[in-house]
Amino acid sequence: MSRIIFATGNQNKMREIREIMQGFQVDGENVEILSMKEAGVYAEIVEDGKTFAENASIKAKAIAALTPGDFVMADDSGLEIDALNKEPGIYSARYLGEDTSYRIKNAKLIERLNGVPDEKRMARFVCAIATVLPDGTLLTTEGTIEGRIGYEEKGNNGFGYDPIFLVPPYIQTSAELTEEEKNAISHRGKALRSMREMIERYMNEGTDCK
Ligand code: IMP
Repeated sequence: MSRIIFATGNQNKMREIREIMQGFQVDGENVEILSMKEAGVYAEIVEDGKTFAENASIKAKAIAALTPGDFVMADDSGLEIDALNKEPGIYSARYLGEDTSYRIKNAKLIERLNGVPDEKRMARFVCAIATVLPDGTLLTTEGTIEGRIGYEEKGNNGFGYDPIFLVPPYIQTSAELTEEEKNAISHRGKALRSMREMIERYMNEGTDCK
């Protein structure tokens, strides 16, 4: 049976990818979807790319080298704030230090936007997905969700920067959405759905060529 190994240890991401890749088949057979841990794969990966897509590709290629013949998917994501020159961007997880709480990171970003009016508080979550196919081909997709940075943390769902990210029409943060509501519009959901389409297109075209 074919396998998709998703390069994450995050259970929320695993739930989302399982839901989006549900029913995905190769040669008429369902594909098993595993986390790195479930597949027994471990790697220390240095994410030194300059873009989300580069970092996702670095992760996917490093894991694929350990599990040839599988589909290997990886993601990289973050928050870009226009008024801060797109910071924290690819450094979102590392902003102010990897171990610093998001309460502190969020408070700092709000402080840095002090005096910036609503219409200049534009921001977006970006997610890149990279997949190495069993034949070694690398595919990448990107998804975004546009929003604005609020003035205080709101909501208890989600994670990271969700409590300060206001989604249109800017009444609620993404931490106030249910998991289903967020997945339906999220950067990761969009990138994963276009990745599924891209893989299916690639595989169908490959079959047609034979
Ligand atoms: P990674 O792609 O899992 O390394 O995530 C990078 C960082 O971006 C996370 O640690 C969060 O700080 C931020 N981030 C990415 N996606 C989201 C999201 O959906 N909500 C809140 N923060 C996010």
